[in-house]
Amino acid sequence: MKMDIISWIWLLLCVSRVTGKFQVEPLHSTVLKGSDARFNATVEGPWEVMTWNIRGFLVLTVPRSGNISSSSEQFSASFCSADDTSCVAFTIHDTSRSQAGLITCTLQGEYGSKSANLHVQESGTVKIKEGIMKVDQDEEVEFNCEASAWFPQPVITWNLNGHSVESSLYNSSHVAHEDSFNSSSLLKFRAVKNSTIACLVTLQTMTKPLSSSVFLVVVPKPPDWTVLIVVVCFFGGCALLVLFILGVIFCYRRKKEKESNYQDEMTKRVRTLSQLSGMKSPGQEQGQDNAGYAADGQTSVAPSDLTDSDYRFNYYEILDAVYHRTENDSKTSYIDMDEGFRKHRHATTV
Ligand SMILES: *[C@@H]1O[C@H](CO)[C@@H](O)[C@H](O)[C@H]1NC(C)=O
Ligand SMILES: *[C@@H]1O[C@H](CO)[C@@H](O)[C@H](O)[C@H]1NC(C)=O
Ligand SMILES: *[C@@H]1O[C@H](CO)[C@@H](O)[C@H](O)[C@H]1NC(C)=O
Ligand SMILES: *[C@@H]1O[C@H](CO)[C@@H](O)[C@H](O)[C@H]1NC(C)=O
Repeated sequence: MKMDIISWIWLLLCVSRVTGKFQVEPLHSTVLKGSDARFNATVEGPWEVMTWNIRGFLVLTVPRSGNISSSSEQFSASFCSADDTSCVAFTIHDTSRSQAGLITCTLQGEYGSKSANLHVQESGTVKIKEGIMKVDQDEEVEFNCEASAWFPQPVITWNLNGHSVESSLYNSSHVAHEDSFNSSSLLKFRAVKNSTIACLVTLQTMTKPLSSSVFLVVVPKPPDWTVLIVVVCFFGGCALLVLFILGVIFCYRRKKEKESNYQDEMTKRVRTLSQLSGMKSPGQEQGQDNAGYAADGQTSVAPSDLTDSDYRFNYYEILDAVYHRTENDSKTSYIDMDEGFRKHRHATTV
């Protein structure tokens, strides 16, 4: 197996020695129009005259010894190194699109010819159609970039303030026009701040893209008060609601307190009353006590406020009657108020 590989390598080397006595490198060269294209021819063995053709036209002749003759200053050749005649460098200066195609090197004698391909790219112009743009904040803006006379189809990208723009924000189209392309790109985005917009057009052979830029002036929006108003209303409403709830709770507590106070007072008074009734026999004195109690119950005026003695008398009498009716239910047999009242008046006045 190993022997097989080695013998194959030997065979290949022998074949290359027979058919490839010289070679041209590189086989493909892509250059930008206006720049230099360079090809090297390496020859194994003796040779006398070398010629270079571009698309079939002889442009340069290199004798192994002697002066190189060329059809134009645009073409030149030299030995790769001063004392090594086995390598010749052929250079096309200021290449043009018309020179793109087969570059052929021929050695007189048994060597034959070798060819390589020359590709010439061309950068055209680039321009953003719009001038300085002035828009309102948040407005959608559009920029058109036009790239004319490029070959081949160029790559168009955009920069916004020096940063590349997402490709979803623009669309590019290309139109073949004779032997070049007219390309255009449309960029759309929402204006946020003052920006510099640049359209960059490039080709594989370009070290730096060609660009065009414009300035976008964004007129700031007046502050949006509606949001502020909504926020203020919301918090104001919340505050009012809290105040209302607090107020309700406060009132409820106050009411409860009052009620319990009132009840305390009532029980106190009832207790006093029962103590008093325990000490004194039912009579005018108790009636007066009762009257005070009734006045506190907000159903009547205090007896002291009354000037009419009769009325006062009646008033006390009524209360006494009520008192006695409750107090001495078993003792007296009053059934109706009027009767009790009369009877009692009689009883008390005695
Ligand atoms: C080569 O060119 C030089 C001048 O550039 C000239 O003096 C010389 O004679 C030329 N040699 C031959 C072999 O033509
Ligand atoms: C690009 O083209 C597509 C389809 O044609 C469209 O939906 C999209 O909105 C375009 N984008 C821009 C930035 O014009
Ligand atoms: C390409 O652009 C050039 C210059 O802008 C213009 O003159 C020409 O008509 C355009 N060609 C096409 C096919 O759009
Ligand atoms: C943009 O610049 C202009 C002045 O050139 C200024 O009046 C404006 O306020 C700037 N806009 C923003 C959004 O900063």
